[in-house]
Amino acid sequence: MIFESHAHYDDEVFDEDREELLGSFHGQGIGTVINIGASLAGCKATVALTQKYPFIYGAVGVHPSEVGELNEENFALLRKWCALDKIVAVGETGLDYHWPEPGPALQKDWFERQLVLARQVKLPVIIHSREAAKDTLEIIQAHHGGEIGGVVHCFSYAKEMAREYLNMDFYFGIGGVITFNNAKKLKEAVAYIPMEKILLETDSPYLAPEPNRGKRNTSLNLPCVAQAIAQLKGISYEEVVEMTEANARRLFGL
Ligand code: NI
Repeated sequence: MIFESHAHYDDEVFDEDREELLGSFHGQGIGTVINIGASLAGCKATVALTQKYPFIYGAVGVHPSEVGELNEENFALLRKWCALDKIVAVGETGLDYHWPEPGPALQKDWFERQLVLARQVKLPVIIHSREAAKDTLEIIQAHHGGEIGGVVHCFSYAKEMAREYLNMDFYFGIGGVITFNNAKKLKEAVAYIPMEKILLETDSPYLAPEPNRGKRNTSLNLPCVAQAIAQLKGISYEEVVEMTEANARRLFGL
């Protein structure tokens, strides 16, 4: 069954039909979901989702755009949540230089703190990196990335950068962008990355694949992503689903 490695079902856009939507997943071939915390409130809601649904696991972390809310006191909450059985990763964390605020210094500081936390609690990291390729890589390398392990979510860099992450044994989250006509650089990178290192993800509610681009995304769109990867790799759809599930179970210890 399809393993969804990155979704945000705590998002308010799912408030009206969350129960119905999540309840439909097994019948539609979606077997397991990792819900990703991006803010403290999102982490709290993620923990609640893992307690309510047997097939949902969680990651707790604070997205680079949200680190302004962090302080010593609430950072301790992240550590506490990491000890829960169904929390399987730290993230999403990383750097996002698309927006001017919060500034790079603050983003780097809390990114480093979350990497240190991941190493201490022995969980893999889920990396968000946008327009910050060089700094993200340098910080992960300086903080024992190869020992921590993890996934670069919504990987959007070229294959030279993929090689650097492969050297640390990292995985790559591939989502709806792979179906876009203008995703030439990403398609080259995915052709280069070994199948054993690819995870399926949506980043729901964002980044819906073609033909649903621009609409609310859900894990039900993952077959479009798996199909696109199958075509690029010259293997069957079933092989993509099977291998990406095995990859995710290996990374998250499930
Ligand atoms: Ni995300």
